[in-house]
Amino acid sequence: MKIKAISTAAVLAALTFAAPVVADEDAELVINGDIEIVTKTAAPEHLSDVMDEILSGWRFRSDETQAMEMDDFDNPGMLGAEEGMALFEASWGSEGKACADCHDGPESLSEVRATYPKWNEGAGEVRTIQMQVNDCLTTKMGADAEKYDSGKMLNLEAMLASVARGTPVNVTIDGPAAATWEQGKEIYYTRYGQLELSCANCHEDNYGNLIRADHLSQGQINGFPTYRLKNAKLNGTHSRFKGCIRDTRAETFSPGSPEFVALELYVASRGNGLSVEGPSVRN
Ligand code: HEC
Ligand code: HEC
Repeated sequence: MKIKAISTAAVLAALTFAAPVVADEDAELVINGDIEIVTKTAAPEHLSDVMDEILSGWRFRSDETQAMEMDDFDNPGMLGAEEGMALFEASWGSEGKACADCHDGPESLSEVRATYPKWNEGAGEVRTIQMQVNDCLTTKMGADAEKYDSGKMLNLEAMLASVARGTPVNVTIDGPAAATWEQGKEIYYTRYGQLELSCANCHEDNYGNLIRADHLSQGQINGFPTYRLKNAKLNGTHSRFKGCIRDTRAETFSPGSPEFVALELYVASRGNGLSVEGPSVRN
């Protein structure tokens, strides 16, 4: 990976970025010796002014962390996917229904992880997977909505991701989703907090560099939900966004907020072409 020039004065003043010690730029990800994952590909058209290539966060992790994702038995996130499978078959709520009563197994939903967030015509809004699952829970099963990024939600999401691994991310950004996408883009380039840093300052201008001993990636979300070694559990995209904004010492939006839904659509679209990789393993 080429070392990029440090590009903003604010970044320079606030943080030290250094050249990486290790860079596994040629590593390839094949899961279980079988599922080929695209972790590097040409950037989607809408990014053509800012980068040529998009890279999964997997490429920026250490050899050991990378290896954990290469075999389901070594990937702790797959335990969440298994629990998601059990939830899928269990009945919740007052209607006595299970997801499996209406959906023919998770494979019947294998398009979902690659195409969400997605415009829902009936509801007139862009929905994340969790919003859609909450809609099924509350309107079809008589159950309470799950809290955003709850353990159950992330297990269900891990299951939906696991059956989609290898599929190229392909979220739609035009048509009725365009306004939400634009809102997400604006948030991505807004500088937050005392450090006055935008997502782009770190993940677009400085990926490949080290920041506080962490190898900075493009901040892609094709690997979500992500099992983080740091907190030893599955993490959702919105919780990750929240953590990143908090690191700039800013007040932040809440998981499930319209701002984070828009940001998720925008960040997902920056990974159009990478494979769905979740549940992934990160530090
Ligand atoms: C009573 C039937 C029913 C139950 C039970 C149900 N769903 Fe659904 N689900 C639907 C219908 C109908 C749709 C399409 C609705 C729409 O597009 O608004 C749907 C849509 C979805 C989608 C989006 C599919 C797509 O292609 O965009 C997902 C994901 C989903 N359900 C997951 C779940 C999960 C997980 C559960 C269990 C927690 C569940 N559903 C329970 C009927 C059900
Ligand atoms: C001060 C620099 C900084 C800023 C600003 C920042 N991040 Fe991050 N982000 C990091 C670091 C460090 C990591 C952990 C290493 C990595 O994966 O890049 C990270 C990780 C991530 C990841 C996980 C990637 C993966 O592969 O699991 C996502 C997604 C992400 N950031 C999105 C964002 C978004 C969206 C914003 C803006 C709201 C943002 N970040 C702002 C530093 C930053």
